[in-house]
Amino acid sequence: MHRLQIALTKGRLQDKSVELFEKSGIDCAPIRDPGRRLIHPLPDYPMDAFLAKAPDVITYVEHGVCDLGIVGKDTILEKGHSFYEVLDLGFGRCKFALAAPKGTDLYSGYHTRMIASKYPNVTRAFFDKKGMDVNIIKIEGSVELAPIVGLADAIVDIVETGATLKVNGLEVIEDVAPISARLIVNTASMKLYQKEINEFLERLEKELERHA
Ligand code: PRP
Repeated sequence: MHRLQIALTKGRLQDKSVELFEKSGIDCAPIRDPGRRLIHPLPDYPMDAFLAKAPDVITYVEHGVCDLGIVGKDTILEKGHSFYEVLDLGFGRCKFALAAPKGTDLYSGYHTRMIASKYPNVTRAFFDKKGMDVNIIKIEGSVELAPIVGLADAIVDIVETGATLKVNGLEVIEDVAPISARLIVNTASMKLYQKEINEFLERLEKELERHA
């Protein structure tokens, strides 16, 4: 039997993934206390878990080094994909939103707007769909700062509770896309290890349905 290789996004999605796996009857003790180790063979299930940053989860799955991956829809939308997205895991729920300082009228006037984002591809696709020409500036984090200091007119960023926007005097102008964690599968693995992957998928689906 093939030992499935799965890449998990480190951090919050990792904790939620472990929670889901354990509820599905898969012992994840090694990932609960990972230390600095990055590869974790699971003790009673034919699976090895890798811990990686979100964009790298996609890279490992696309290259077939991992059969499976758990990653946020935000990263999938930004990086594009050549893999199967098979399951919405329901956790890590938030959204992409367009936001600006309170009272901003982004759609009137003639000058080309400057939009700051950690997600330039998502931002480009959103404004292309509107037929609106914008300049996009890539920011690596704390994107909310950009319109406050005058670097940008608005931002496209992840909004979860809305607290970061509120405390910085910004508001949502439009929702861009909903986000949650997804299970992704390498296209060749899907054929080669169909039996193992289906068994794993069914376990997760059964557990997710119990809470639906
Ligand atoms: C994310 C996101 C927002 C914040 C939204 O940032 O970019 O800043 O969380 O959450 P809220 O709506 O609940 O306030 P993260 O903490 O990942 O750090 P970053 O800004 O450095 O990307």
